[in-house]
Amino acid sequence: MVKRGMSRRAVLAAGSTIVAWQASPLRAMLRSADAAAGPATRASIDELIARMTIEEKAGQLTLMPAAWGGGIATALNPPAGNNNYPVQIADAVAGKLTGVFNGNGARMALQMQKAVMEGSRLKIPLIFAADVIHGHRTIFPVGVGEAASFEPSLAERTARVAAFEATGAGIDWTFAPMVDIARDQRWGRTMEGAGEDVLVGRLFAAARVRGFQGRNLADDDCLMACVKHFAAYGAAEAGLDYNSVDMSIQRLEEIYLRPYQAGVDAGAASVMSSFNEINGVPSNGNHWLMTDVLRDRWGFKGFVVSDYTGDEEMIAAGFAADRRDAARLAILAGVDMSMSSGVYQEHLPALVRDGQVPLAIVDQSVRRVLAAKAQVGLFDNPFRRIDLNREAQRSRLPASLALSREAGQKSIVMLKNEGGLLPLKPGTKIALIGPFAAEGRDINGPWVVYGDNGQAIDVARGLHDAGARFTVTKGSDVEASIPGGIAKAVAAAKAADVVLLAIGESEAMSGEAKSRTEIDVPAPQQALAEAIAKTGKPVVVLLRNGRALALEGAVRDARAILVTWFLGSESGHAIADVLFGKVSPSGRLPVSFPFASGQEPYYYAHKNTGRPNGPGPLAEYKAHYQGVPNSALFPFGHGLTYGDIVYSALQVAPQMSGPMRVGATITNRGSRAAVETVQLYTHQKVGSLTRPVRELKGFQKVALAPGESKTIGFTLTPDDLKFVGADGKWRIEPGLFDLWIAPSAEAEGVHGSFTYRAA
Ligand code: NOJ
Repeated sequence: MVKRGMSRRAVLAAGSTIVAWQASPLRAMLRSADAAAGPATRASIDELIARMTIEEKAGQLTLMPAAWGGGIATALNPPAGNNNYPVQIADAVAGKLTGVFNGNGARMALQMQKAVMEGSRLKIPLIFAADVIHGHRTIFPVGVGEAASFEPSLAERTARVAAFEATGAGIDWTFAPMVDIARDQRWGRTMEGAGEDVLVGRLFAAARVRGFQGRNLADDDCLMACVKHFAAYGAAEAGLDYNSVDMSIQRLEEIYLRPYQAGVDAGAASVMSSFNEINGVPSNGNHWLMTDVLRDRWGFKGFVVSDYTGDEEMIAAGFAADRRDAARLAILAGVDMSMSSGVYQEHLPALVRDGQVPLAIVDQSVRRVLAAKAQVGLFDNPFRRIDLNREAQRSRLPASLALSREAGQKSIVMLKNEGGLLPLKPGTKIALIGPFAAEGRDINGPWVVYGDNGQAIDVARGLHDAGARFTVTKGSDVEASIPGGIAKAVAAAKAADVVLLAIGESEAMSGEAKSRTEIDVPAPQQALAEAIAKTGKPVVVLLRNGRALALEGAVRDARAILVTWFLGSESGHAIADVLFGKVSPSGRLPVSFPFASGQEPYYYAHKNTGRPNGPGPLAEYKAHYQGVPNSALFPFGHGLTYGDIVYSALQVAPQMSGPMRVGATITNRGSRAAVETVQLYTHQKVGSLTRPVRELKGFQKVALAPGESKTIGFTLTPDDLKFVGADGKWRIEPGLFDLWIAPSAEAEGVHGSFTYRAA
C-alpha cells in the first residue's frame, strides 16, 4: 500500500534515485532540452521507441487526472477511469501512463516519479500537468480581466510568475493559455480568454505562451504551455458550452484560428483539441484541423492532447461508433495524446495489430511526446521541478503579490463616472454593501485549482488597508435575498455619504459549463440596487463578473461603475487604489456590454446589414430589436480615466500603397494624470465580400500628465487590410477605407478615409 505523504527517508531515497538516473545510459542517450530539436536527440528517441512495446507506446500517449488530486482539482475533473492512487502508481510503473494532471504538488510528483524511475522497465519520466490558468498560489485577474489592461506584456509577466510558482510545485506543463475568441457573452468561459477581438486575442495568446515557457523550457522555472481549445471552442452556438459550431471558412480563418496560430508562432509546445465540432466534424476527429492546418500550414512541431474525454465524446456526438473507433479517428486525425478517457491505452495496441492504425502514426505521436519531455528537461533530470522545499519558497512572494496588485489595478474598467464622483475624497463616509463586500469568497475567480480565496484581499480589507471610513452590510446573497437584508442596507446607505455596491456574478456563475441565458445581475441583487437608489445617495457599482453583463435599472444608472471582474489575490487593494485615486483607472473593455441579453452574440466587428439603423432614433424596418439599439451600452474598447481626454488632428494620407503612418493628437484637458488607450480601427467600404463595420488594427497606452498633449502614430500595413476571399485565400482589394483613431470601437474619435491601391 502506498501511503500519501513522504517520510524523510523516502525523500533521501529519492535523492539516490536521482544520482542513479544521472549515471544511467538512458539519460546519456536522451540528454537535455536544447538538443530536443537536434538530430542526436531524435536519433536517441527513435532508439528508445524501437525498444518500446505497443502497450508502452499507448501508455506514453495516455494522460490521466491525478488520483491524488490537489485543491479543487477533483471537483473540476470528476474521476474518470482509475482514481485510486496506489493503482495509479502501479499503472505508471507498468508504463501505462505518460503522466498525470492536477495532482497534489511536489510531494505527489516525487513519490510517483521515484516509483517510475526505479521500478519501470524503460524508466521514461512522467510529466506532471495542471490547469494553471491565471496564477498558481498568487492569483492574477481572470484572463478576460487581464486583457482589459490592453497590455500584453503584463500578461507575459503574470504568466512568468505563475510558471515560477507552479514549477516549484513539481508541475512541468500547464493547460494554458486559453485563447478562444468569445463573442457570445452567454458563454461562461469568456472569463478565461482575452475577449472578442482577434488582434487583442493574438497578442495576449503570444504573450502568455512566452510568459509560461520563458527563455528555455528546460529551466526549472519554465512550464510547457498548451494553446487551447483548438479550435473555435468559443463560438459554441448560442453560447452553450460544448455546443456545436457551424461557420464560414472566412470567419474561421480571419477571426477564430488566428489566436491559436499566434500561440503556435510564439513557440507553444502543445495544443489542446476542443470539445466542439466545426461544420459537422468534431475537432478530435478533424484531420484537416489537427494536421493540415496545424502542422502542415503552421509548422507546429509539438504535440496535441485531447481535452479531457473529448475523444470518447465523439461517440455521443454521433461521429464515432464506439471507444475503439474514437481512438482510431483521433490518432489518425493527429491527436497525439488522449486525456482522461483511456481510449488510447485500451485500443491502440489492437488497432495497430489489426492494421487499422499504421504503427508509424503511433510512433510519430510517441516521438512528439518524448521530444516534449526532453524539451522540458525531464530526460536530463526527471526530478528537475520536484523539490519539496521549493513550493513554499516560491509561493506568494512580495514581488508576486505586488504584480497581482498592479495587474488588478490595470484590469479595472471605469464605465462611467458622472459628476466626477470618483476618486473618493479622503474621509468620505462609505456604506460598503453587497454580497461581494466582505465575504472572503468569489475573489480569485473560476479556474483556480491551487489558490485560496481565504488568502485573497476582499473589498472590505482593501478599504480598511487604505484607511477608509466605512460600514459593511451584505444586503443580499448572490442569488437569493436575505430576510431584512435590504432594510439594513438602506439604513446603512442613509447613514453614509456614498454607497459602494459590490454586486455581480459568483465564481460558480462563470467558467466551464456555466452558460447563462440572461447575462444580468441576479434579481435579488438588482432589487437591492433599486432600493439603495431610492435613498438618493450617490452609488458606485463595483461589478464582479467573468463576462460582459447587460446592466439594467439602478445598476446601469448608478453614478459610477467599475468593472472589477475577478481580480485575484490583491483584489481589494487594487479596487481601493482606483477608488481613492492612488492610480487612475486605465482598463478597457475586451468584450462589449450589450443593452440586453437578447442581443447576444453582440460584438463590435459585426457586419452592417443592408438596413443599418445608424445613430439616432430607432427606425421601423431597420436592423434592431424592438426598443433596443443595435449597438452596445458600453462598447469594446471603452473605459474612462480620471483625466479628460480629447482626440484631434487626424493625420492620414489620401492614398496608401505600402506601409503608411497615421496619427492623431491626444490631449488630457483634465487636472489628473491618465493613461489613455488609443485605438486604431479601419473599415473597407466595399469588398468582394462584405467587411465588418470596424476592425481593430492597433492600440497604444499613452501616459498623459494634466494638460499634456501627445501625437500618437501607428503604421498601417497592407497586411492589416487583408481578408479571406470567396476562394478561401487571403487577399487585399483596392478601394476606399474608413479609418478611426478613437477611444472605443463605437466612439467617433477622429475619423477620416484613404484609398488603397497596390504599388
Ligand atoms: C476540461 C477543460 O475544458 C480544459 O480547459 C481543462 O484543461 C481540462 N478539463 C483539464 O482540467
